[in-house]
Amino acid sequence: MAARIIDGKAIAAEVRAEVAAGVEAMAAAGARPPHLTAVLVGDDAASATYVRLKGRDCAEVGMTSEALALPASTTQDELLEVVRGLNANEAVDGVIVQKPIPGDVDDALVDATLDASKDADGLGPTSLGRLVQGAPVFVPATPAGVQQLLLRSGIDPSGQHVVIVGRSILVGRPLAMLLSMKAEGANATVTIAHTGTGDLGGVTREADILVAAAGRRNLITGEMVKPGAVVIDVGTNRVDDPSKKAGFRLAGDVDYEAVREVASAITPVPGGVGPMTRAMLLVNTLRAAQARQ
Ligand SMILES: NC(=O)c1ccc[n+]([C@@H]2O[C@H](COP(=O)([O-])OP(=O)(O)OC[C@H]3O[C@@H](n4cnc5c(N)ncnc54)[C@H](OP(=O)(O)O)[C@@H]3O)[C@@H](O)[C@H]2O)c1
Repeated sequence: MAARIIDGKAIAAEVRAEVAAGVEAMAAAGARPPHLTAVLVGDDAASATYVRLKGRDCAEVGMTSEALALPASTTQDELLEVVRGLNANEAVDGVIVQKPIPGDVDDALVDATLDASKDADGLGPTSLGRLVQGAPVFVPATPAGVQQLLLRSGIDPSGQHVVIVGRSILVGRPLAMLLSMKAEGANATVTIAHTGTGDLGGVTREADILVAAAGRRNLITGEMVKPGAVVIDVGTNRVDDPSKKAGFRLAGDVDYEAVREVASAITPVPGGVGPMTRAMLLVNTLRAAQARQ
């Protein structure tokens, strides 16, 4: 039987509606709308698109936002100065610095310089440290989105074996921390797989919930999935497609057609994790604004 499709677009719309209600409640209490500033360095087309979409999301839920576009030639010192300026700006609640940052800039230093109370991406050392301590404030948006996709689809990770393919600081590692917390909506047994994993298929076949976050198209085949498992595809890989205006389409890390015949539930790409990542950024921005107003 074909797997149930987990509709990330619909669930993200649900989350956005909740955020919009939170923004309205702040307005009713006399507060200004939450404000997100996105810093975009250079002219990478994909990054520019992400920033534009985030601005649109903010407007939809009643938040204000701005995109600070800096030239690709921006040095590390110049970028850190911009971040310090945003830290000091009382009108700014949340800040994201869009990755990848071109040039010779240390991403981790940028994340560490951003005031922890404005860390909407949840990637700074304080946010990640709080997550490891089991008392998160801002959870990175993609891991938070994966957890919400599961919970809002009636899939409780508690007691389940979750296998995550990928150990990046953006997705795999914080997701492992989040789902292994002793907390409601978590409490899973988590395995992280990566390029050093000996028998990847042997490990993924053990998963009750399999999360693919490797950035390798079709890495996860039907034979690598236990019948009845839940499969969450974080991967977004560009595939040439002349029929599309952009000349490409997005595909995940999972061989969707084969795996949907084996899994009990699966996220599509696009329309799965992507919209949830954007929605969870709004949740973090609302949280940041609520804490400072
Ligand atoms: N939908 C969304 O909202 C969203 C958000 C963020 C990222 N993404 C997508 O998710 C994917 C991962 O992103 P990322 O930033 O985490 O990427 P990343 O920093 O490149 O990390 C990829 C991870 O996957 C592992 N990996 C790569 N190939 C593998 C293989 N053949 N077998 C086992 N493990 C393998 C790598 O292992 P090593 O550590 O051993 O190198 C690494 O840990 C990308 O496609 C990205 O575009 C989507």
